[in-house]
Amino acid sequence: MCGIVGYIGPRQAGELLVSGLKRLEYRGYDSAGVAVANGTLDVRKKEGKVDELASLLKARPVHGTVGMGHTRWATHGAPTDVNAHPHIAGGGRFAIIHNGIIENYGSIKRRLMDKGYTFLSETDTEVLAHFIDDIQKETGLDFAESIRQALTQVEGAYGIVALSEDNPDELIVARNGSPLLLGVGEGEHFIGSDASPFIEYTRNVVYLNDGEMAVVRADGYEVTEINGAPVAKEVHALEWDLEEIEKGGYDHFMYKEIMEQPEALANAMRGRVHADEGTVKLGGLEDVMKQLEAADRIVICACGTSWHAGLVGEYLIERFARIPVEVEYASEFRYRDPILNENDVVLVISQSGETADTLAAVRQAKEAGVLALGVVNAVGSTIARETDAGVYLHAGPEIGVASTKAFTAQVTVLAQIALLLGKTRGVLSDADLKENLEALAKIPTQIREVLEQQAEKIEAIAREMRLAQNALYLGRGVNFPVALEGALKLKEISYIHAEGYPAAEMKHGPIALIDRFMPVLFVATREATYDKVVSNIEEVVARGGSVIAITDTGNRGLDDLAEHVIEVPKTSDAFEPLLTVIPFQLLSYHVAVMRGCDVDMPRNLAKSVTVE
Ligand code: AGP
Ligand code: GLU
Repeated sequence: MCGIVGYIGPRQAGELLVSGLKRLEYRGYDSAGVAVANGTLDVRKKEGKVDELASLLKARPVHGTVGMGHTRWATHGAPTDVNAHPHIAGGGRFAIIHNGIIENYGSIKRRLMDKGYTFLSETDTEVLAHFIDDIQKETGLDFAESIRQALTQVEGAYGIVALSEDNPDELIVARNGSPLLLGVGEGEHFIGSDASPFIEYTRNVVYLNDGEMAVVRADGYEVTEINGAPVAKEVHALEWDLEEIEKGGYDHFMYKEIMEQPEALANAMRGRVHADEGTVKLGGLEDVMKQLEAADRIVICACGTSWHAGLVGEYLIERFARIPVEVEYASEFRYRDPILNENDVVLVISQSGETADTLAAVRQAKEAGVLALGVVNAVGSTIARETDAGVYLHAGPEIGVASTKAFTAQVTVLAQIALLLGKTRGVLSDADLKENLEALAKIPTQIREVLEQQAEKIEAIAREMRLAQNALYLGRGVNFPVALEGALKLKEISYIHAEGYPAAEMKHGPIALIDRFMPVLFVATREATYDKVVSNIEEVVARGGSVIAITDTGNRGLDDLAEHVIEVPKTSDAFEPLLTVIPFQLLSYHVAVMRGCDVDMPRNLAKSVTVE
């Protein structure tokens, strides 16, 4: 999700910008940079950590009392010095920094190239910078108005700050989809993705809303809508201390990331799912679509939670695209001398894009001359760079070790791949495609509904579960991977032993474990095998077991059987994991907190397992 900081006032900006970027590190990033105006525009930027930028500034200091800083979470172009922000234009006279994605940057770039513009970087941001320059040249408008004009023609998410050496007494700020707020000081003003960069200077903030822009000076600011209409803004006095703000006011990154899922999934579909038209576009697969459509088999390789997402992907791709799918633990795949034929495709799934076993699977596929695709969150990560093509999650950085928003974003991307393949292979009707895209587009809102309406009940269940020694998670069909994921979440952050099983498998062993001390958690939505799952629940209850069931809203059929019933909205059967997993994420989070565990950094675990 990267970060933005800006300053204008009497202080030297350099130091303040770097310490502000340090405060934003928790948001995850891959490169950083600053621009400061002092008659000229001084830009320093670098791939890597903010500390490396600080060393660069020690060697080549910047001077000036107005400036801006950026930490980049790459979406267009790998993390390199050149792709780092700020990006300059107008013959070096101005610079911009940007959080987000300019979806129509390609068409704008082509228009600018026809006019002779050249580009140093691969980013969409640099395209916006030159677009602003082009508008200023064509219209003669001033800097702020040229930016306004550009933003009325831009599609996508942005939070931007712009600084021109011709107007060094103002910073231009605009927001649409990426958070930005102003810090209001005495004779000085600040800008931040959140308040953490400037909280020690002022607690008075003005929140910018989507579609608003501001001209910020040392002695004040004007906020307008992008269409120019003035906007009166309220100044809010923050009560948070720095520590909290770094987690955006949440106690843990994991909780923040659970709550971010509606936004993360909207981003995973942004510019891709066009439900009203009934189309899905995945630019990252365009060059390999022919090969992918003709695949005899898709072998999904991943680890941990990503492997669970792969199991859901198997169901989705076989159902919608009718291509046989196998799902392999990457660690097993790499050592069993797998049989790979020329029309096979290996698709790896990895949030970090650095997992050693999964990377090995990519290399194995390429050695075998087989197409290797990636579904990855971290842009420019090793797996992203070594696969032949792929689809980014755009879920923003996931910092909590327990993966939550990455799982749902992975399933969302796999659903898009399955639907796109179904369409291009002619095995999915336009009507079915449109219906499923409409269902998928509703998921972010439905997740928000679960988070709002079931939170209290889930926390109460966690209080009862917190002393358990063991737990059994059961589900069928596409919800079997959800049972596995629920069990993994609980065990990895609360250290309670938990197992996930296909519900029907209970009779072949796990039923021996049933007693009143072991919670049995069922996914029991009213899909095709619901009656079978109810029978499994009755078998558990008949043996004195206590059942917690997740079912779809309005189903009262389990009230007399289960100790607790958690409800999730109805969606297409295929997309149920996106909703049924949410209660398990929240449950594991609360149990771990109540057990005093280190939720974000559970013992023995790393966020990215870059070793075998
Ligand atoms: C899941 O909560 C764990 N953090 C872990 O299983 C993780 O999913 C696994 O290590 C794979 O990581 P990756 O998606 O970054 O490759
Ligand atoms: N899309 C821009 C880039 O890839 C900005 C990414 C970000 O939000 O940091 O450089």
